[in-house]
Amino acid sequence: MRQPMVVGNWKMNGSRELVQQLLTDIKTSLGPQPCEVVVAPPYVYLEQTAQLLADSPILWGAQNVSSESQGALTGEVSADMLADFKCRYVIVGHSERRTLFDEDDGIIAQKFGQAQKSGLIPILCVGETLQEREKHQTEAVIVRQLSPIFKAGYDLKKAVIAYEPVWAIGTGLAATPLQAQEVHALIREECRRSDQEAAESLRILYGGSVKASNAKSLFEMSDIDGGLIGGASLNAQEFVNICKAVK
Ligand code: PGA
Repeated sequence: MRQPMVVGNWKMNGSRELVQQLLTDIKTSLGPQPCEVVVAPPYVYLEQTAQLLADSPILWGAQNVSSESQGALTGEVSADMLADFKCRYVIVGHSERRTLFDEDDGIIAQKFGQAQKSGLIPILCVGETLQEREKHQTEAVIVRQLSPIFKAGYDLKKAVIAYEPVWAIGTGLAATPLQAQEVHALIREECRRSDQEAAESLRILYGGSVKASNAKSLFEMSDIDGGLIGGASLNAQEFVNICKAVK
């Protein structure tokens, strides 16, 4: 049995005040935890988040991590530093990092490795652009994005994968449950080739315009184990309702 999870990716949003309000509201309205719940605030709010969530089962993580472990790398944050702030997870390979910050599959694999070396669980994002989908390249893109991770022999039992079609991120146009399920099944099948046991326990999240109104139909699909939520995670009630929509 895979424990479903919902992760809130706050991206570059927030302030001390908003973090205080949002986390307080989420804690109040979540009630008995319906699934594993994780928030990923910007780095500078990790300490505040850790304090606010100390008495709660809600976990936290970061949105990015350096591909190196330490040294003269101005502005970077290492996996050990994130572990020091009690992060459990870190998102790697988000499409905004791939496109806006030129991160390629190799760098992303290095980040994935750094995370695991420090005891963090990487949440690896993969997904095709609209153009790639229209050219029927979805499968090839996903396989290409996954392959450096498999080749490096990283432990898939200590990882989460998020399928996030680029065309669905922040557009209001989510993949249909069937479209998502198809790719999730492909991801699990690819994992099976590397590690049969890990493939069965691997949690594969869907991300891209998930809202309380479409979450249930997505989460009902057999290979969708929860969601990676952007915009809707900044609204406490909406986020909580998404968490409650897990199967
Ligand atoms: P969205 O973003 O929910 O705002 O579409 C998802 C993501 O980028 O992780």
